[in-house]
Amino acid sequence: MKHYLQFNDLTADEYAYLFERAALIKRKFKAYEKHHPLADRTLAMIFEKASTRTRVSFEAGMYQLGGSVVHLTTGDSQLGRAEPIEDSAKVISRMVDLVMIRTFEQTKIERFAAHSRVPVINGLTNEFHPCQILADIFTFIEHRGSIQGKTVAWVGDGNNMANTWLQASEILGFKVHVSTPNGYEVDQSVAGIRSSDSYQVFKSPLQACQGADLVTTDVWTSMGFEAENEARRKAFADWCVDAEMMAAAKPQALFMHCLPAHRGEEVEADVIDGPQSVVWDEAENRMHVQKALMEYLLLGRQA
Ligand code: CP
Ligand code: NVA
Repeated sequence: MKHYLQFNDLTADEYAYLFERAALIKRKFKAYEKHHPLADRTLAMIFEKASTRTRVSFEAGMYQLGGSVVHLTTGDSQLGRAEPIEDSAKVISRMVDLVMIRTFEQTKIERFAAHSRVPVINGLTNEFHPCQILADIFTFIEHRGSIQGKTVAWVGDGNNMANTWLQASEILGFKVHVSTPNGYEVDQSVAGIRSSDSYQVFKSPLQACQGADLVTTDVWTSMGFEAENEARRKAFADWCVDAEMMAAAKPQALFMHCLPAHRGEEVEADVIDGPQSVVWDEAENRMHVQKALMEYLLLGRQA
């Protein structure tokens, strides 16, 4: 049994399969062709933080695969009343075939997975957001072909998205230019990467964008860190992706943002709403790649 708790949980070969499979699943969806490999299977979705895209993409995706979903939140389940994670994992995983969790510390999802009888998928933790990077790379491939050997500029917080980009760069063979404000750097040990070979740190966000094939950013304050809002607004003021940064990147560079976005903070409106932005494809592709992922975790490779 395989879990998907961080990007490192799958190999380059498995990703190559998933990207091809997601493309097929997407084509079938667009042609209104039925694809029901998970008929009679149930996905439990546990949300300890808010969500729009993750909820809709997993829920719609599972129904489209012929299955059904159960939606749980901290507030409306015993999870919010201190039932041990291990007990919750044992119970929930006896009744469903697959579990998706969005929570705080990565250790929480690891504890759940250690006691689960069924595969567990990370729908975002403080440390990682693997399903998002899966969608982002699929989107890059759709627009520009293989990401191998390319350069991704990360402008902003050394957060769950940044960590996951770093893991992906080691596995899929591309480079990440990272520029964060002082005090918000990526931490190689938290990111869980083997070396610093696949990334380079830049003080200036403009320099990080130079020659990039993809420029990407994220909110200044991630969920769970709201108490730091004011300090972050000051620290991140220069980490706003603007037209000058996009002009420093390659002419064919794409812009991505996992969303939700704050125009005028981490990105200017003319960039996110401009011609290089692929954020709506990126959001839609969450559903297609996660359908491929759920099918793979439950059924393995399909001929
Ligand atoms: N990008 C993303 O995970 O969005 P949600 O928080 O809306 O799920
Ligand atoms: N880094 C953001 C991503 C939201 C999808 C957060 O964790 O809130």
